[in-house]
Amino acid sequence: MLLSLVPIILQVCILSLTVVAMPTCQLQGDLVQSAHHLLRDLGGDFPVHCVKYNANISIPGSAFPAATANQPQCRQALWVVYESLSEAGTVFDDYEIPVGEGGVTWDEKKLEDFQNLQYRLLKRASCLARVDGSGVLSSYFRNVTSLLQQEDSVACGWTVLRRDLLEVLTFTLQNHRNCYVWRKAQ
Ligand SMILES: *[C@@H]1O[C@H](CO)[C@@H](O)[C@H](O)[C@H]1NC(C)=O
Ligand SMILES: *[C@@H]1O[C@H](CO)[C@@H](O)[C@H](O)[C@H]1NC(C)=O
Repeated sequence: MLLSLVPIILQVCILSLTVVAMPTCQLQGDLVQSAHHLLRDLGGDFPVHCVKYNANISIPGSAFPAATANQPQCRQALWVVYESLSEAGTVFDDYEIPVGEGGVTWDEKKLEDFQNLQYRLLKRASCLARVDGSGVLSSYFRNVTSLLQQEDSVACGWTVLRRDLLEVLTFTLQNHRNCYVWRKAQ
């Protein structure tokens, strides 16, 4: 009698292990919010001479779903956040941020904290990478990269990237808040 229960118990154990091991495609709202605050508080202003690049560079609002009433729409919204952070991570890896004269004046400690958080978020949410996205973001990042490749527009490229990344985080935290998972305390 007892022995015949063993396979069942084993199966239940294996099932619950599978559930635990399954990647949950979620982003933690509180981490994204901290990343948002760090990016916002980096300091430095938006130089007037960078305004002229605005016409050619912006993350189109069409990247975001209009509503996030259901699971696929939430995945799309979270994908935009994931992909923006991921592409920005590649940019951080590939290009050096100019500091001082003619460069950006960002708080280095906050930038480092932001990048650590970015790394943590990306690692946890890597399952979002599988969501099919449009080419909208790759066009945006191509344009940003082209600014970073020209010496007279490097600082503008970084300034624009920081502004738009902040916009993506702000927008989803406000409009797609229900798509994030939040700690109980909030
Ligand atoms: C914007 O893009 C157009 C077309 O690629 C280019 O001719 C123009 O110089 C760009 N403007 C700026 C300010 O980079
Ligand atoms: C990238 O630049 C091209 C040429 O200036 C422009 O047509 C396109 O709209 C830009 N894309 C984004 C997402 O800013």
